[in-house]
Amino acid sequence: TIIRLHGRRVWDSRGRPTVEAEVTLAGGASGRAIAPAGASTGSGEALDLRDGGSSFGGLDVHQALAAINHDIAAALIGMNAGDQGAIDARLVALDGTPQRRRLGGNAIVATSMAVLHAAAAAAGQPLWRHLAGSGPVRMPLPEVQIFGGGAHAARRVDVQDFMIMCPAAASFSEALEWTAEVYRAAGARMKQAGKLQGVADEGGYWPAFDSNEQALDTLVLAIADTGLRPGTDAGISLDIAASEFGREGRYTLALDRRTLDTEQMIAMLGGWLDHYPILSIEDPLAEDDAHGFAQFTATYGRRCQIIGDDLLVTNADRVAAAAASASANAVLVKPNQAGTVSEAHAALLAGKRAGFGTIVSARSGESEDVTIAHLAVGWDAGQLKVGSFARSERMAKWNEVLRIEESLGKSARFSGWSALPFQPQ
Ligand code: PGA
Ligand code: ZN
Repeated sequence: TIIRLHGRRVWDSRGRPTVEAEVTLAGGASGRAIAPAGASTGSGEALDLRDGGSSFGGLDVHQALAAINHDIAAALIGMNAGDQGAIDARLVALDGTPQRRRLGGNAIVATSMAVLHAAAAAAGQPLWRHLAGSGPVRMPLPEVQIFGGGAHAARRVDVQDFMIMCPAAASFSEALEWTAEVYRAAGARMKQAGKLQGVADEGGYWPAFDSNEQALDTLVLAIADTGLRPGTDAGISLDIAASEFGREGRYTLALDRRTLDTEQMIAMLGGWLDHYPILSIEDPLAEDDAHGFAQFTATYGRRCQIIGDDLLVTNADRVAAAAASASANAVLVKPNQAGTVSEAHAALLAGKRAGFGTIVSARSGESEDVTIAHLAVGWDAGQLKVGSFARSERMAKWNEVLRIEESLGKSARFSGWSALPFQPQ
């Protein structure tokens, strides 16, 4: 039984205020969680409630904290923390708006995740095990950023994430070892070329490139530098985050100083797919271009994972609709886009029912909170995306999965290729 709920202001990886919720149960168990924050947010996601005004650029969170400490506390105290579905339904009903405008998506997601932690603590289980029960789990395939871009790097390049995935690794820990070598090799190449300029929001190298293709070329060379075979051992994953520069079928590329229509955008990305060992593309088109998504998926969905992020905003109904219209073959699952743990899980389950790839994902604004590492394992998502291989708000998640993998010993299984919604060629 929940006896206390407390909201406090803490700070995220961009030095911005954010919301932490702490839940205490009658038996003494407790749990806490911190809300993350996006920069390239989808218009359909739960609202991150900010105070406005002058303090901290208008980003303060006193309203969201007040919601936790008053309305939400009053509603949840006395409820059973073990019934996550009932807790989340109560939160949704209490807010009463589709986008969580009254209490704030940040207040709601921090509370929902904190209750989940408290319930696991009360059960005396690690969170991932509490979620999985006796069901099978796989260690997720990590999707790791090497270069940042887009909204995370002052739009220095158009593409937001240049990432790698190592599906041929034998274990999660080996996939991280390979990734570490590629990250180092990419850094060495940047230094050699006089292009090393620090890191972007998620810890990937700041992309001091003259074109998107230059970033892709450098990535392939960095993979080869380590002795890994590009496309076989380590492949490329891109988050185009096209909603950031596309609307109504017009895509304005800052680097190339040209505007493309949907057909030309698909042709450009198709050219990349033909030339580079790309395994996954997220948001290839804008959130308002479902038709383009369907066209792209019809053409490339049998050889590439096509992820809807801004398009699907971790919403089960949208995932089901995307499955019906074949406009993606994978769904990104960000708990704070949905609002509650239960809604995020429903979106993931809708993806699994459709045979989609499912990727639990962090936001560009993060913290030491490692809840998503447990969700990725406990929900058997198959894939985990948390940003780069630097900065501790990122490494905290990777390191947590290492601990889980170690705790499973010989029975640990790595998802690898099985996580992707297409057959390797
Ligand atoms: P965001 O970026 O957290 O800034 O929205 C992450 C993503 O687009 O996947
Ligand atoms: Zn994205």
